[in-house]
Amino acid sequence: MDYLVISGGKRLRGKVEISGAKNAALPIMAGVLLCEGEVTLRNVPDLMDVRTMEHLLNKLGVASRREADGTLKFRVEDEMNCHADYELVRRMRASVCVMGPMLAKRGRAQVSMPGGCAIGDRPINLHLSGMANLGADVDLVSGDVVLKAKRLTGTEIFLGGPFGSSVTATVNVMMAAVLAEGRTIIESAACEPEVADVANFLNACGARISGQGSPRITIEGVKQLKGCDYTVIPDRIEAGTFIMAGAITNGEVRITNCRLEHLLAVVDRLRRIGVNIERDGEDILVSSSRRLDPVEVTSQPYPGFPTDLQAQIMALLCLADGNSIITEKIYPDRFMHVAELNRLGAKLHKEGPTVIVEGVKKLIGAPVMASDLRASAALVLAGLVAKGETRINRVYHIDRGYEKFERKLQNLGADIERRSDASGE
Ligand code: EPU
Repeated sequence: MDYLVISGGKRLRGKVEISGAKNAALPIMAGVLLCEGEVTLRNVPDLMDVRTMEHLLNKLGVASRREADGTLKFRVEDEMNCHADYELVRRMRASVCVMGPMLAKRGRAQVSMPGGCAIGDRPINLHLSGMANLGADVDLVSGDVVLKAKRLTGTEIFLGGPFGSSVTATVNVMMAAVLAEGRTIIESAACEPEVADVANFLNACGARISGQGSPRITIEGVKQLKGCDYTVIPDRIEAGTFIMAGAITNGEVRITNCRLEHLLAVVDRLRRIGVNIERDGEDILVSSSRRLDPVEVTSQPYPGFPTDLQAQIMALLCLADGNSIITEKIYPDRFMHVAELNRLGAKLHKEGPTVIVEGVKKLIGAPVMASDLRASAALVLAGLVAKGETRINRVYHIDRGYEKFERKLQNLGADIERRSDASGE
């Protein structure tokens, strides 16, 4: 199994290009199920999760073709199979996004119920109540959710949950509603840029969606969607991770193919602690040259600070000059990285959904274990500055969501290498 070995202490310098957004590309790919004709998607990152979604679409009767430079072409050829089975859903929760499109287009969707994962329980009750509101019959059969509807009907749907809005529930219900009869209004919709990107893709295929990016999305049902040629937005979480990689190493990094306006909450916290972040035309320049200040960070739905960067900013704050407080409001259990960062010499104290970060002067390399995608990225950031060698096991988590991660870091001057062994860990 692959692992990463990092020798810490190199200041990152140079240019890095951000890939397409994983969390936009995955639901957009699921949206292909709604379309008649060929769909061309550009700026699709080459990731394990994207390959898993492609495989799932192939099983559901969609032909796909890969072209160079992140371009994929799709065409629905057979609508008989409506079953997303456990084998794929358990590997990737975003598989659940095929539910809305299949229900709308094929009148039936059978999707294995996803279980919990390393970052928490992750229920899908909001997806299901949204589909039921549109008129679907919802059943649970041997661990599968089975939804049926001859024709969905537009209605008003409230999608707020105990932790705010839900990204994939919003896109799932929105994708179901595009072919429904009449108007659907989703209230308490997720405002994340990835949700807006899915809506923009669907509109390019002939859907009539407005209000995307705000908490109220209106969908006027249409009879059919055609194909289109669409470019996925850049990945704001990958961009945020590289901004922090520049900051933690006191480096100077130019970031291209990135939208700063999608990262304002992150930029606000980072400027507060002393990181320089500037626009230069379309690019972002990041630099830092001193020990950073501590700060309070609370993860929230967009436009708040993203939970997907909570672990990475924790790595950064481990070395700040004072105590920081990090509170997780989306996934209160998303703290698997805490114990691993402590193995590197961090001083982190967890109290419920909050971690007190006592700033230390240095981290020291050690073998650590990646537990989920973003936690793994945080360990890489810590490894970039830790004295000596850090070995990160279970690197497949990183491959799910960061395209060519170690290669991009090497290009910036990091001493990081992927190795393999047969030990299984
Ligand atoms: N929730 C419910 N009921 C539901 C759905 C969600 O209570 O039916 C709760 C969740 O338990 C959580 C909160 O609502 O407390 C928000 O979850 P959300 O549904 O927004 O998460 P998601 O759509 O399953 C997406 C991203 C995650 C990201 C979250 C939050 C994709 C494929 N995944 O997940 O990305 O952390 O939004 O922004 O878009 C990652 O990329 O590493 C990742 C985990």
